[in-house]
Amino acid sequence: MIAFHRVSLEYPRTKTKALYNVNLEVKKGEFVFVVGHSGAGKSTLLALILRRLIPTQGAVYFAGQNLKALKGDGIALHRRRIGMVFQDHRLLADMTVEENLAFVLQVQGVPRREWPERITTALRRVGLAHKKRAFPEELSVGEAQRVALARALLLDPPVILADEPTGNLDPENALQVLDILKAAHQRGATVVVATHSRELLEAYPTRVVVLKAGQVVRDERPGEGGSIRVRESLTGAERRAHEHLQAHRPQPGDHRRIRDYVEKKLSRLDRYQNGELMAKVVLSLAGSQHVERKAKAEVQVDLPGGW
Ligand SMILES: Nc1ncnc2c1ncn2[C@@H]1O[C@H](COP(=O)(O)OP(=O)(O)OP(=O)(O)O)[C@@H](O)[C@H]1O
Ligand SMILES: [Mg+2]
Repeated sequence: MIAFHRVSLEYPRTKTKALYNVNLEVKKGEFVFVVGHSGAGKSTLLALILRRLIPTQGAVYFAGQNLKALKGDGIALHRRRIGMVFQDHRLLADMTVEENLAFVLQVQGVPRREWPERITTALRRVGLAHKKRAFPEELSVGEAQRVALARALLLDPPVILADEPTGNLDPENALQVLDILKAAHQRGATVVVATHSRELLEAYPTRVVVLKAGQVVRDERPGEGGSIRVRESLTGAERRAHEHLQAHRPQPGDHRRIRDYVEKKLSRLDRYQNGELMAKVVLSLAGSQHVERKAKAEVQVDLPGGW
């Protein structure tokens, strides 16, 4: 669906090299998180897919088409295939929720008789049908962001790009936004989400592309590498917890408690791709009231480098 072929991007005015030799393929129907520190190139990558930018070197393909070749109307038609969501909702302040959505339908030339149903469907999907007549400033931050999602999903675009869509939200609202993106994914959309949020990654095990200083330094799907390492660490920690327990006057039920704890964590393991979080799990296991400080140190040493 989307392919980057040896893409480099230098911003002309400042000569900043924002992306360097990026190869990346996103297949139809995939859900991908793009993560990386501030300045790593996440927004630049999305702007290339939108064709706000064209590569300095290499090429970006969308449905097999080199985006560089697009002109005028071609660019407008291309953007119609993409639903874009930003960190701030970017709703028009002097229009109600309904009018904000209608504006998109008008610009896209959708016949007026289809508007009410499309608007209602879109708002229902984000649970805000009752806010149709509200102005953006009358919405909470989370609600405004959900309206922005409704707007992006209004025409059921095959591709959804989201740039820090939960950057301004508390965890609960962030997970609501994620659920809406997941639902669009389940209806068949290809979704790319740039984010800093560990909560999002932890809440949805999917492919994660890590950018660092403009390069792809990791590209992992759930169940690959990371979670196997975590699983090994966790079972290793469990073994050590038992050993230490043996040496320190076990109380009735201690072994069962450790077993239950590990089982619970393992059953949820696929939800965790994030090594750091698992490191915390392992450490809290080792730190359970019966296990000595020494076990903690051992477990810590046992965690793979870079966690
Ligand atoms: N319009 C621009 N002109 C010049 N340089 C830019 C421009 N936009 C971004 N950059 C630079 O390009 C690099 C990548 O920026 P980008 O916005 O893609 O990073 P990001 O990963 O999205 O960061 P953040 O997490 O802070 O949003 C940075 O060094 C940034 O300073
Ligand atoms: Mg950015």
